[in-house]
Amino acid sequence: MNFHAPVLPTETLELLAPHGGELFVDGTLGLGGHAKLILQKISPKGKLIGLDADERNLQLARENLADFPNVELIHSNFRELNKIAALNSLDGILLDLGVSSPHFDDPARGFSFKKNGPLDLRFDQSQPLTAAVILNSFPEAQIADILRNFGEIGISRKIAHQICVARRQQKFQTTADLVALVEVKSLLPQIFQALRIAVNDELGALENTLNSAPKLLKSGGRIAVISFHSLEDRLVKNFFREQKKAGILEILTKKPIVPSLAEVQENPRSRSAKLRVALKI
Ligand SMILES: C[S@@+](CC[C@H](N)C(=O)[O-])C[C@H]1O[C@@H](n2cnc3c(N)ncnc32)[C@H](O)[C@@H]1O
Repeated sequence: MNFHAPVLPTETLELLAPHGGELFVDGTLGLGGHAKLILQKISPKGKLIGLDADERNLQLARENLADFPNVELIHSNFRELNKIAALNSLDGILLDLGVSSPHFDDPARGFSFKKNGPLDLRFDQSQPLTAAVILNSFPEAQIADILRNFGEIGISRKIAHQICVARRQQKFQTTADLVALVEVKSLLPQIFQALRIAVNDELGALENTLNSAPKLLKSGGRIAVISFHSLEDRLVKNFFREQKKAGILEILTKKPIVPSLAEVQENPRSRSAKLRVALKI
């Protein structure tokens, strides 16, 4: 079954504060969980533009949001937002970063080290770069940088070296090939996270979008970002602080908002979520 419970739904809605008639962008539509909550507030006169890099999720969201005629769904990376929305046009932007449950559940996407499948890890199946391409063709130093910078792995050079020795014998094809190579199994979540961030240029996309967001928001418009690891959260925190200093954004979350114990128990995927929200002055 395809289901993805929206993270921090009450808190996100309270701070994004969608009102009747407003124009919102959900840059990470996923299965449309947050989008539906926003649509319930802005309909019938408001409109939601939903983006997802993943064509399959976009299709699932289309089905989940079929009751709302006031949605426009676009297969796009959210880094293209400045080409999609006009200047000073938006009342709200939501970015709920990272992976959706169907990504983890489908072994064919390669997101889970617990399931055997191709070393893919792409949100957007139309892009050429996959995890297998990185492992089989990137220089050793670059693989080490990816593991250190995006996975915060101390022995990144050792693992990168082992990868480059192993690939001379046989190219990496499946998640099981990579799992078999890694001696310290507790590092697997970080290794897969690092590859995923590199394959999808997740930090680059976030940085670009943060830079263009204030120009796209109306005065009084809100931007909410839900992040799932410290690298993303740091980017958002620093960006909001700079924009506050420049007198462009007001920060609505002095500290990041995290899920309640009850939410984590019900939806373990929410455990590392951090929500930050700002308002355009
Ligand atoms: C955590 S899920 C969003 C779940 C959604 N809020 C819900 O309630 O159903 C993140 C989604 O964003 C998409 N995504 C991740 N990075 C993206 C990017 N740079 N541009 C567009 N979509 C992206 C993923 O494919 C995934 O479907």
